[in-house]
Amino acid sequence: MGLVTTREMFERAAKGGYAIGAFNVNNMEIVQGIVEAAAEANSPVILQASSSAIKYAGPTYLKKMIEAAIEINKEKGMDIPIALHLDHGADFEICKECIDSGFTSVMIDGSKYPFEENVALTKKVVDYAHMHGVSVEAELGKLAGVEDDVNVAESDANYTDPKEAAEFVRRTGCDSLAVAVGTSHGAYKFKGEPRLRFDILEKISEALPENYPLVLHGASSVPQEYVEMCNKYGGKLPGARGVTEDLLARASKMGVCKINVDSDIRLAMTASIRKVFTETPEVFDPRNYLGKAREEIKKMISHRIIDVFGSQNKA
Ligand code: G3H
Ligand code: 13P
Ligand code: ZN
Repeated sequence: MGLVTTREMFERAAKGGYAIGAFNVNNMEIVQGIVEAAAEANSPVILQASSSAIKYAGPTYLKKMIEAAIEINKEKGMDIPIALHLDHGADFEICKECIDSGFTSVMIDGSKYPFEENVALTKKVVDYAHMHGVSVEAELGKLAGVEDDVNVAESDANYTDPKEAAEFVRRTGCDSLAVAVGTSHGAYKFKGEPRLRFDILEKISEALPENYPLVLHGASSVPQEYVEMCNKYGGKLPGARGVTEDLLARASKMGVCKINVDSDIRLAMTASIRKVFTETPEVFDPRNYLGKAREEIKKMISHRIIDVFGSQNKA
């Protein structure tokens, strides 16, 4: 099947009331853990790379690792749809570079700009991407700083406005839209009870064309078992908290077709490596601790795909 765009994945997800996991990749063990989990669950999957991931791994390494994963799936008779997506593209140039080098989807993140500038930048990327058959995700609304203790009027200002969302999608032609409904990036998302603004999510969906795919960034659930494991074995992550899995499951039935997860991969990896280092200080073979980290990533992603996002057997 090779790399695919997100178009068909999202169409089917929106109609079927489930979401596709979009997992951040930075190195070989992460790619392997994600792809093995998705292939065994017979699920479509999105592998996404941020600009810093591309810089860290090197664009050629990243691309070739993903091609290797696809080839291995084919050999095993476990061919699943995989999209390669640029996460948080900051400008037209990085989007163009990724489109030219074979990414099948890009995000242009103009959310930091005023509305009109975001529209103009997104439209420019959409025009170029569509000429090359590539899908575009855009963002409207601000994720960061939405905290439980911020007063309602202030925090409402950060959420995506449904009317603006409709105008934005119509004017830019973007293929999916990342919305701000209470999530934030990283491992410290909520001071109080985790909650999402499903009322706003519903209004956004209603304002957009039927089955229009929405994207949830900052959607790690920050499993407490990993936080505890990190802390037990010398880490320092006090009060780390994420979006609970029941909230994610609910969002995936409400028009959210893509759920972004990066922090949970970092946590699974760090927790398992810390455990090895503390319990067996004599170990110094990277295949030992990186192998355990890969297994933990795979386990966490299998669970997310099968029990939370609902994309098992949708390949
Ligand atoms: O949303 C951001 C992602 O977690 C990527 O983070 O830029 O550190 O790779 P990064
Ligand atoms: P988390 O930090 O919640 O994993 O979010 C990742 C993300 O949104 C990547 O774009
Ligand atoms: Zn993000």
